[in-house]
Amino acid sequence: MKFSIQATDSQSKARAGEITTDHGLIQTPIFMPVGTAGSVKAVHQRELSDDVQAQIILGNTYHLFLRPGLDVLHKAGGLHQFNSWGHPILTDSGGYQVYSLSGTRKIKEAGVTFKSHIDGSTHVFTPENVMDIQRTIGADIIMAFDECTPYPCEFSYARASMDMTHRWLKRCCERFDTTEGLYGYTQTLFPIVQGSVFPELRKQSAEKIASFEREGNAIGGLSVGEPAEMMYEMTEMVCGILPEDKPRYLMGVGTPANILETIALGIDMFDCVMPTRNARNGMLFTTQGIINIKNEKWKNDFSPIDETLGGYVSTTYTKAYLRHLVVSKEYLAAQIASVHNLTFYLWLVKQAREKILEGTFYAWKNSMVEQVMRRL
Ligand code: GUN
Repeated sequence: MKFSIQATDSQSKARAGEITTDHGLIQTPIFMPVGTAGSVKAVHQRELSDDVQAQIILGNTYHLFLRPGLDVLHKAGGLHQFNSWGHPILTDSGGYQVYSLSGTRKIKEAGVTFKSHIDGSTHVFTPENVMDIQRTIGADIIMAFDECTPYPCEFSYARASMDMTHRWLKRCCERFDTTEGLYGYTQTLFPIVQGSVFPELRKQSAEKIASFEREGNAIGGLSVGEPAEMMYEMTEMVCGILPEDKPRYLMGVGTPANILETIALGIDMFDCVMPTRNARNGMLFTTQGIINIKNEKWKNDFSPIDETLGGYVSTTYTKAYLRHLVVSKEYLAAQIASVHNLTFYLWLVKQAREKILEGTFYAWKNSMVEQVMRRL
C-alpha cells in the first residue's frame, strides 16, 4: 500500500491524497460503504461501482466469520472473488461488533469469548486468530483487534481497556508480520487509537499507536453517543499526534456534518451505516438538506430526488414515486434510497477533495455543513 498527499488546505488540516492498493486506487478523503456480510444492504456491486462510485467497501470479520464462514471464503479465493468486488476492501476486526451484537461476552487478556447472534454458538476471538481470519477473508486493509469502550465510561475502565488494546496490538503485529496473504496480493494492518473521551488517554494512545509505524492509523471508540464537540476535540488532538504522511481513518463516523468537520481536522477515511440504514427508514440525504420521504409533504412532489447530485437513481426517480414505494413497503424503496444516499456521501467527499485541491475547502465546508444538515 502507498499513500501520497496531493494538497493540504491552508486554513484547516484537510488533505487530498491517494492510497494505492493491489486492487486499485483510493482517492481521499473517502467514504467506505458498509458491506457487513459481504454485501452493502440493498445495493449490488455494479451499482456500487458505476452509480455510487464507491472506491472501497468495508466488510465485518465478525459477520463473515460466523456466516458464510472461513471454509467457504477460502474455497472462493477470498472475499473479492466471493462477492465479485474487484476494488479495494477493508475489514473491521470484530473489535466493535463483538461488543455491540453478541449478548453475552467475556473480555479477558487472552481474548474475547462470545456467543453468535445467529445461533448462540460460542466462539473466541484473540488478536492472533483475528489476524488469521482477516488473512483468510483477504481484505486489502485489515484492522487490529481492539476494545471499543462504551460512552459514558469510567476513567479507570477506559485506561485499563486502552492498555489492553495496546498489548493486543503488539500481538496482532507479531502475528500479521509472521504470516502472508493467501491470495497473492498485499494486505496492510491498521492499528486503532482508543482512550474514550479522556484527553490524556487519547494522547497516550495516539503516541503508542504511532510508535508501531504501520502504514495507516485508525481512531476508534468515538461516535458512540458522546456529544459531537467531544468527538471533534478527541479527533483534533489525535490527528495532531498521528503521522501526517499516513492515512487516518475515523471509524463509524458519521453524519455529513461530522464528515466535513473531521476532514477539516485531518481525517482521510470514513465508514458508517448511516446512509444505508437511514435510507431503509426513509431518511434521505440530499445536496439541499435532509428529507423524510414518508412525510405527506412529498406525496405530489414530482421533482427528482436530487437533481444537483447527478447519478441515474437520484435524477430519474421522483420524490413522489419513492414515497409511494416506501409507503407501500416495496423492496425497490430500499434499493433506490440506499443507492441515492450512498451517491450523496461519495459526492460529498469527492467535492471536499476537489475543494482541497482548488484551495477553497474551508469556506465551502462551512456553508455546506449548514446546507446539507437542514431539514426540508
Ligand atoms: N467501528 C466504530 N468504532 C470502532 C472501534 O472503536 N473499533 C473497531 N474495531 N471498529 C469500530
